[in-house]
Amino acid sequence: MPQAHLTLDPAFRVAPVNRRLFGSFVEHMGRCVYTGIYEPGHPAADDNGFRTDVLELTREMGVSVVRYPGGNFVSGYRWEDGVGPDRPTRLDLAWRQIETNAFGLNEFMTWTRAAGVEPMMAVNLGTRGLQEACDLLEYANHPSGTQWSDLRVKHGATDPYGIRLWCLGNEMDGPWQIGHKTAHEYGRLANETAKAMRLVDPGIELVLCGSSNSGMPTFGAWEATVLEHAYDAVDYLSLHNYYEENGDLPGFLCSAVDMDRYISAIVATADHIGAKLRRKKKINLSFDEWNVWNQSRFTGRERSPFQEAPELIEDTFTAADAVVVGDFLITLLRHADRVSIACQAQLANIIAPIRTEPGGPAWRQTIFHPFALTARHARGTVLRVEPSGPLLETERYGEAPALSAVATIDGSQVALFAVNRSPDQDLDLTARLLAAVRPLSASVIAAGDDPHRVEALPQPLTVQADGDRLTARLPAASWTMILAECESLRDQQ
Ligand code: AHR
Repeated sequence: MPQAHLTLDPAFRVAPVNRRLFGSFVEHMGRCVYTGIYEPGHPAADDNGFRTDVLELTREMGVSVVRYPGGNFVSGYRWEDGVGPDRPTRLDLAWRQIETNAFGLNEFMTWTRAAGVEPMMAVNLGTRGLQEACDLLEYANHPSGTQWSDLRVKHGATDPYGIRLWCLGNEMDGPWQIGHKTAHEYGRLANETAKAMRLVDPGIELVLCGSSNSGMPTFGAWEATVLEHAYDAVDYLSLHNYYEENGDLPGFLCSAVDMDRYISAIVATADHIGAKLRRKKKINLSFDEWNVWNQSRFTGRERSPFQEAPELIEDTFTAADAVVVGDFLITLLRHADRVSIACQAQLANIIAPIRTEPGGPAWRQTIFHPFALTARHARGTVLRVEPSGPLLETERYGEAPALSAVATIDGSQVALFAVNRSPDQDLDLTARLLAAVRPLSASVIAAGDDPHRVEALPQPLTVQADGDRLTARLPAASWTMILAECESLRDQQ
């Protein structure tokens, strides 16, 4: 049986667990908003029209931050359409939808409070610019006594929202983006918009658009150029990436290797520009769109008729997808020193952990479970555990470690998250803790026998303890969470 080892030592501290790593994304796209989180008249809808079944699942998932209102949608969006009594119906050119604007900023803010999540707003830098971004910020965050803030008060929101996180547009490097720009055009616009927004509210945190994915022809160069323009004015640089199996299960199970390389490459690029500009300040990362998405099955919307809340990319996820999603979360935690925000895309129906039927039930997809367990149990401090073990040879990514792992410690509580990426071989794991350890529980999602099944409830896993060691057999293609207690850890933190 292949063996893998790791050491859990409080000296190998990465960073505190940042709750913002457990973010999600709500876009006006398909059925994410309409008949997803919002469906007046649904038997489970509250007085605001919010589906309480979806709200409950959102809370159960442990979602911390929700990015809104897009995505590609935001690049043609007029935020004023979604506030106040008059809501014009418009064409949404990004997804060829009919947008009724029944749901807008104030509904979203009320929803975030019901869900217990932090809002992360995106401004339109596609068809609009600096002025509209400042107007929106003034509407949202300025106390009162000005045209826009008084309008918010008139719309029933007496207190300012105090929204801290703001994205400067979405995927502006993508030719599909409405109002797509070159890196120089975007870098200048983002810099000027950021500076002006900070004059409206100095307390905000700003996210600059990085590449739409690591395969873009301008990847790397885009980041360098936009950072040269806006380094001083922003706090974070965004990353987006989606992964799919596409007939290659062994490669797909190693997708997090790519996410890991992508993050390291962007950290290096950001630090290079920081060094070039002689800045002490570090730009951290916002991985604000990530997930599994069977993109090759999506034929696009170019020929589709305009439609209200169309069924769009409602992918059904598998056990293998859940394992890969668990590995993405491990990877984000391993980079918690530089990745400050991460949003799984999206929350409901659109490539989502939560699915709904209009007028019917809401349910958890396979990928819901590793997210919910990681969000609940990753607490305190992230530790780098440097696993050793067999290597896998993949066509997509070359050599990849079979074991991916990270741990968190909080007082005497230990949570160890591990993925065995081998599609067909179990792995015997030994974790050494430097002091006596007691296992509390362990859960596993094993995809090996039937990777494409669409149910993947976590099952109990046997873990043995021997003094300072924990041992467990990690099934092929599996995600595992081991919870344990180690009293002496408390003194070492
Ligand atoms: O999440 C779906 C879409 O993927 C978003 O609108 C866009 O930002 C990305 O390309």
